[in-house]
Amino acid sequence: MESNRNKLIELLSASRDKYVSGQFLSEKLDISRSAIWKHMRELEKDGYKIEGVSRKGYRIIKFPDKVSENTLQWGLQTQWLGKKIIHREAISTTQQLAHKTAQEGTNNGTVIIADEQTEGKGRMNRHWHSSKGKGVWMSLILKPDIPPNLAPQLTLLTATVLAEVFSSYTNTNPKIKWPNDILIEDRKTAGILTEMQAEQDQIQYVVIGMGINVNTAAEEIPDDIRNKATSLRMETGENWNLKDLIQRILAAFETGYETYMTDGFPPVKQKWEHYGYKIGERLFIKTLRKEWYATFIGIGEDGALLIQNDDGGVEKIYSAEIEW
Ligand code: BTN
Repeated sequence: MESNRNKLIELLSASRDKYVSGQFLSEKLDISRSAIWKHMRELEKDGYKIEGVSRKGYRIIKFPDKVSENTLQWGLQTQWLGKKIIHREAISTTQQLAHKTAQEGTNNGTVIIADEQTEGKGRMNRHWHSSKGKGVWMSLILKPDIPPNLAPQLTLLTATVLAEVFSSYTNTNPKIKWPNDILIEDRKTAGILTEMQAEQDQIQYVVIGMGINVNTAAEEIPDDIRNKATSLRMETGENWNLKDLIQRILAAFETGYETYMTDGFPPVKQKWEHYGYKIGERLFIKTLRKEWYATFIGIGEDGALLIQNDDGGVEKIYSAEIEW
């Protein structure tokens, strides 16, 4: 029953806004036309809007708002990103499934997404809180033809894509905190975790994981990060449609990635610096050897933090404790 319904959705989705005849559907599924009609009524109860026109057939005119492979595919404005989507209601971490899927040999642009992660991974082995249906927990599998040392640029690119989509879709004022946290009003809304499988001079694949707090309410944010984290809902007072947000991110990512592949890093750097948190401000920097104040002036080609010291010299910082 369930699988007939999924096949039905697949057949209707594949033909986009064209009508599919009841005869064709009943032959494909090997069930009667009245059984097809009953399935359609059931789909409508689940939030699908289906138009049935005599002598033409059926077409889906609206998908439900929930996230699934089918609902994400419908209306997705990309050429290659997300042509294959693997959706799970619950998973340990989408990163792990992305690695497995990549190692089995999937296409460039495969997307792994979950409603909930039980062992969400953050940077530096931190836990990433990913509660059910409250955010976007998604990993992209990419096979970029760039040397492995340039992979950090993809993380910076991803940060600019998220900042642009948040700004245009939710009308917020996002900032990218070096290297790649997305903040709104000084609190973290999204984080990016990039992992890579590479040989010395060739990338096999990259997994870009993004975690976005979308409809999380203040009381759902764990105590230990409550004053550092936020969500799109907390900042705007609105619940956001996850499916629409994901589709916009995928479309913007595809465009940004293609521009990066043809024009290289300069456009990414420019956008990153446009959204850069505290660019032009004084930072307190602490490394193993020294601690000092300097002015944050931008990012380097390798994603390093560029600072200007008080003697006028420009320095690249790769890892340090920074007081923001
Ligand atoms: C960070 O620490 O800022 C990075 C957080 C990355 C979280 C995302 S959610 C989707 C993907 N799966 C994971 O387990 N982590 C990344």
